[in-house]
Amino acid sequence: MFAGKTILTGVKPTGTPHLGNYLGAIKPAIRLGNDAIAQGGKHYMFIADYHAINAEKDPAVLNQKMKEIACIYLAGGLDPEKSCFYRQSDIPEIPEITTILYAYTPKGFMNKAHAYKACVDKNREAGKPDDDGINMGLYTYPTLMAADILAYNTDIVPVGKDQVQHVEIARDISGAINAHYSKELLKQPTYCFDDNIAVVPGVDGRKMSKSYGNVIPCFADDATIKKAVFSVKTDSRPMEEPKDPEEIIVYQIFKALASPAQLQEMAEGLKQGKLGYGHIKNMLLSAVLDEMKEVRDKYNYYMAHYDDVEQLLAQGATKARPVAQATLKRLKDAVFGR
Ligand code: ADP
Ligand code: TRP
Repeated sequence: MFAGKTILTGVKPTGTPHLGNYLGAIKPAIRLGNDAIAQGGKHYMFIADYHAINAEKDPAVLNQKMKEIACIYLAGGLDPEKSCFYRQSDIPEIPEITTILYAYTPKGFMNKAHAYKACVDKNREAGKPDDDGINMGLYTYPTLMAADILAYNTDIVPVGKDQVQHVEIARDISGAINAHYSKELLKQPTYCFDDNIAVVPGVDGRKMSKSYGNVIPCFADDATIKKAVFSVKTDSRPMEEPKDPEEIIVYQIFKALASPAQLQEMAEGLKQGKLGYGHIKNMLLSAVLDEMKEVRDKYNYYMAHYDDVEQLLAQGATKARPVAQATLKRLKDAVFGR
């Protein structure tokens, strides 16, 4: 599927990743990148820091999130020698390409983009003017994302379902430019998503999300992880009462981590009234700590040696930049008739 293809993924450095992010996005993205490389494809993975400034204005927070995300991807097994791992803001051609793309981006696309629409809906619910607190960075963000994708001649963008619309916008913009100049100036990207990736519930049973404050912070220390796991909501039924595992939040989270044998053990224990909530929370805690052990050790190592990580990001930018430069040159030559 990936032979000879260019795969590109971007991640916004906002919020410290939690177990849902790690299992639902980070780990699968690293695996997919490594698979693509093994199959003879090219893999670009970048940290979308220009996207982050739309929402976060504190430099210290931005810097900290950048460090965390960079270290997490490296700790999770991204190979910076084989993948091209870089920071968006190290590639000045991206905003230049964005400027050219603006001229081919119908304003109506931005009005329809769901991140913007969600903010408008929130404002309406709160009885505020539609565009209250919405900056142009957020409004035009799909065009910047199109530049991220189109700069590197990307074939496939692995995405969560919420990002499909943005890749379609990138396709539409590149299609319009190619049609106008009657040549393939820009590669038309497609997306793929993995239907098998489950949504991990949070400690209250809703989707685990930083905005609900219901996360298991899997890169924190053991005590913090333990506290979160033991805060998973349970009821007051006694251990002996047989329970349907599917109704138990601890079990639902465990599903995202456990082996089939471990899962069966917990399910049977609950059905037969042989495992209490304390037991199953300990089982979940062990599974989280096992899953995260090696990754957290490496993460802590990279955080403590961040100068090395900076160097890796700089090397990644050195590899990525000539490709973006070539795309920019192609565009400028066509647009300005040079
Ligand atoms: P949050 O909901 O905490 O704000 P984001 O929306 O920033 O998380 O999501 C970042 C990535 O993590 C996305 O690709 C998203 O699909 C994935 N993700 C977030 N929460 C979960 C979850 N609970 N289960 C699985 N994947 C998740
Ligand atoms: N918009 C993506 C998100 O919110 C991050 C992103 C920026 C991205 N540019 C990209 C993802 C290009 C894929 C390709 O998660």
